[in-house]
Amino acid sequence: MTLQGKRIIICISGGIAAYKINFLIRDLVKKGAEVQVLMTPSAADFISQLTLSTLSKKPVFSDFYSENGTWNNHVELALWADLMLIAPCTANTLAKMVHGLCDNLVMATYMSAKCPVLIAPAMDLDMYRHPTTQQNLELAEDFGHFIIPAEMGELASGLIGQGRMAEPETILKQIEYCFSSNQNRQTLNGKTVLITAGPTYEAIDPVRFIGNHSSGKMGFALAEEAANRGAKVILISGPTSQKTGDPNIEIHQVTTAREMFDEVFKFYEMADIAIASAAVADYAPKVVAKEKIKKSEDSLTIELIKNPDILKTMGEKKTKQFLVGFALETQNEEENAKSKLEKKNLDMIVLNSLRDEGAGFKNDTNKIKILTKNELSEFPLKSKNEVAKDILNFVEAQILK
Ligand code: PMT
Repeated sequence: MTLQGKRIIICISGGIAAYKINFLIRDLVKKGAEVQVLMTPSAADFISQLTLSTLSKKPVFSDFYSENGTWNNHVELALWADLMLIAPCTANTLAKMVHGLCDNLVMATYMSAKCPVLIAPAMDLDMYRHPTTQQNLELAEDFGHFIIPAEMGELASGLIGQGRMAEPETILKQIEYCFSSNQNRQTLNGKTVLITAGPTYEAIDPVRFIGNHSSGKMGFALAEEAANRGAKVILISGPTSQKTGDPNIEIHQVTTAREMFDEVFKFYEMADIAIASAAVADYAPKVVAKEKIKKSEDSLTIELIKNPDILKTMGEKKTKQFLVGFALETQNEEENAKSKLEKKNLDMIVLNSLRDEGAGFKNDTNKIKILTKNELSEFPLKSKNEVAKDILNFVEAQILK
């Protein structure tokens, strides 16, 4: 995507990741953007103004006044920008942003800005997962800012964990996404999204079945978010009490895995994006008793046969579809999710673990990690509606690649 004429303010705060911003500025300028760099006072300890100003082709501002005595008017700077990026955003700058502390040029400009704000946090892992930081990130999201989650990896401290600033290419993609979705907030207009949701029930007899605890909340949240973004949504749902009145969502109710399989493949070919959030029973009774099984013996054996793997078959039949699976795990979570990503030929997988409080079945919340072949992003506990947004933002950013 060209960024010709787009005016971007990059605010650098004092973290080691500041060195990566040079690459981002170079790429933005190459794509035609006008870049104005602002720095907090401590950012100067990490990166040279001369490099930044050479790459951005503009003077860099770090104080309310320049050396020649001219006022660096934060109001004008803020109004000039089409987009503001805070990167790296330290724990300190983030805290100031969400609590209204305005003691430097970056903060004054941020508080005067009317444009979209993107935040790329960077800090050591314990600082990143500290409740204050997580709460501040949620507050920033509530303000409508976009968070580019910190990535996993080796940190400046030598520790390994989440806290590394996202790579310049990832930030660039988010900037492009921000401009494309701003021009047209209906970012999935013209796309067909196929979603599976809820549990499946496999009958044992007319009264009993094998099922699971899925409520359908996650799948319905995804369907509503995709429809909000302008997609035509085909929602194939197992038994659930969830409802939606959205005219862009076409619901197909099924009961068993076999029925879900058949319904999915009526529509799969027309889908641009397919998301399998259903908790499908892996096995079904070989024979369904015609009458209610009587309680006569002390034990009862039911022979089960394997259900078709709907998602794996979607992976085999994949043509244009961007294919997203879910992994619900209780142990070796990342390893199992990675293996499902590969075996089912997926483009990305959403991992939720029943070991995380508030995640998985029934709750209104979920806590996810998203894995692609090369990336792993971790998200805090959020409402399923917010999780659906994170998932679709991620899908859109991948499709834009
Ligand atoms: O419905 P909620 O109460 O809101 O709960 C949401 C959820 C926990 C059900 C959801 O977030 C979730 O994790 N869904 C996937 C559950 C699951 O069955 O995971 P799995 O790891 O067993 O399966 C892996 C993937 O293969 C899933 O995308 C699943 O839909 C798919 N699958 C599995 C078996 C099968 N026979 N066919 C499939 O398509």
